[in-house]
Amino acid sequence: MLAAELPDEERLIDDPFARLVADDEAITAARADPNLQNVIRLRTRYLDEAIVDFVTTHGSSRPQILLLGAGFDARAYRLDVAATFFEVDFSATLDDKAKMLMGFEPLAQRIAVPVDLAAQRFVEPLVDSGFDPSAPTIVVWEGVSMYLDPDEAESVVAQMAESVPPGSRMVADYAEMSWFKGSDYERATESISRDLRRGGEPLKSGLRDMYATLDRYGFDVLDDEATENLRPRYGLAALPRHYPTRMVTAQRRG
Ligand SMILES: C[S@@+](CC[C@H](N)C(=O)[O-])C[C@H]1O[C@@H](n2cnc3c(N)ncnc32)[C@H](O)[C@@H]1O
Repeated sequence: MLAAELPDEERLIDDPFARLVADDEAITAARADPNLQNVIRLRTRYLDEAIVDFVTTHGSSRPQILLLGAGFDARAYRLDVAATFFEVDFSATLDDKAKMLMGFEPLAQRIAVPVDLAAQRFVEPLVDSGFDPSAPTIVVWEGVSMYLDPDEAESVVAQMAESVPPGSRMVADYAEMSWFKGSDYERATESISRDLRRGGEPLKSGLRDMYATLDRYGFDVLDDEATENLRPRYGLAALPRHYPTRMVTAQRRG
């Protein structure tokens, strides 16, 4: 919602649902940190474009969008795409979101699938909910891998490979925890880490190595860029980096 306060060219996204799902604390934190706002807008834009492109390309094959750790992602309500959204998260989070968005109709079909990614497999509950493992799928793993430990995160990638056919894609943001320890990036994100820990969602280390893990499970990396370095791609002036996050797109090998 803070994007709406920016000049047109800096806006990058239009998310009328952001105010409904962000609490005052989150908005205050974002307002205090223009660099964080920049990262969030860039990552939203990157993932929105990836989803729309994928669905457009696979339009005749009943494409699916799998949001792993969907949280309060309202894309099913704001992206008018001919595909089904499958939203995986904790049951309580999905319930909270249903309450927040009560009264709004999603633009696309949306199916909520409660799963604890750290403790359960997600493939079977997905299939039980109508997910088709043979249909082209774009898996969106946004803001989640850094809340899982390395083995949990690797298990998620292994299951992605089990649940989507060749040509499917995975798009994600990730933090390179191993190299940002002790760096300026870690100092820049210290207050965010502290607030997350206090809120009961501590940052963990995520995947040990994004490239090697994706390769091991049959995904080729098509794109990998520091989130803040995406600005010129969208016609914006380059800015110095403050955050260790990157955006990646990978495709399941045939
Ligand atoms: C920072 S939020 C990101 C939400 C959403 N993808 C977005 O970018 O707006 C992290 C999400 O991951 C979910 N998550 C973290 N650990 C999880 C787990 N073990 N099982 C299921 N969901 C989990 C949280 O509930 C939360 O919704």
